[in-house]
Amino acid sequence: MQENLKKQAASAAIPYLKGCRIIGIGTGSTVNYFIDLLAPIKHQFDGAVSSSEASTKKLLALGIPVLDLNTVGTLDVYVDGADEINSNLQLIKGGGGALTREKIIAAASKSFVCIADHSKLVPYLGNFPLPIEVIPMARSYVARELVKLGGHPVWRENFITDNGNIILDTHRLEIVEPCQLESAINNLTGVVTTGLFAQRPADIVLLASKDGTQTLSMELE
Ligand code: 5RP
Repeated sequence: MQENLKKQAASAAIPYLKGCRIIGIGTGSTVNYFIDLLAPIKHQFDGAVSSSEASTKKLLALGIPVLDLNTVGTLDVYVDGADEINSNLQLIKGGGGALTREKIIAAASKSFVCIADHSKLVPYLGNFPLPIEVIPMARSYVARELVKLGGHPVWRENFITDNGNIILDTHRLEIVEPCQLESAINNLTGVVTTGLFAQRPADIVLLASKDGTQTLSMELE
């Protein structure tokens, strides 16, 4: 059932690609369905900018060229999933560990279209442990600083990011002021990226449920 909802959310993103030559592509199981949907219409695009080695592999296997962000400039549309979404379209991401490249592509895109099933919408962010990518030698230092911020960081063992770093999955954070917390975590020396996408939230969230797909957009409110 949840897989069908992920597919439903993925297909709702297709109309947002109108006129788009290069698509920003996120990571995860929902995005994998989206990539599958691109295969039959791939002639409409010059290629994609990918947020992970996993998505790159899948795109290339389907014959979709993967381009370097440095050579393509600003992207029109970035499509990605999320682990949690609040009503301001702020997100927790990084369950798949691709948060840094995801955040870079989101920053470099005019429009961030988030695709998810309805279970990802929450009143407050933070029940899902916040993934934080950290330079390996700073692991213990950053963990101590995260405890001072009220978190309970857990090292994601046997996992190295595509950038060669580690992830601290940080439980029990009370995310009342997402933008402030994002800045506070970004300011910790040794942190590469936090999976809190508050300062650059999604522009549109396509939320699939058995009753249909709801479109959440800050502009429409
Ligand atoms: C990967 C992510 C994913 O977008 C997030 O984990 C959601 O994944 P899924 O679509 O499999 O639920 O941030 O780093």
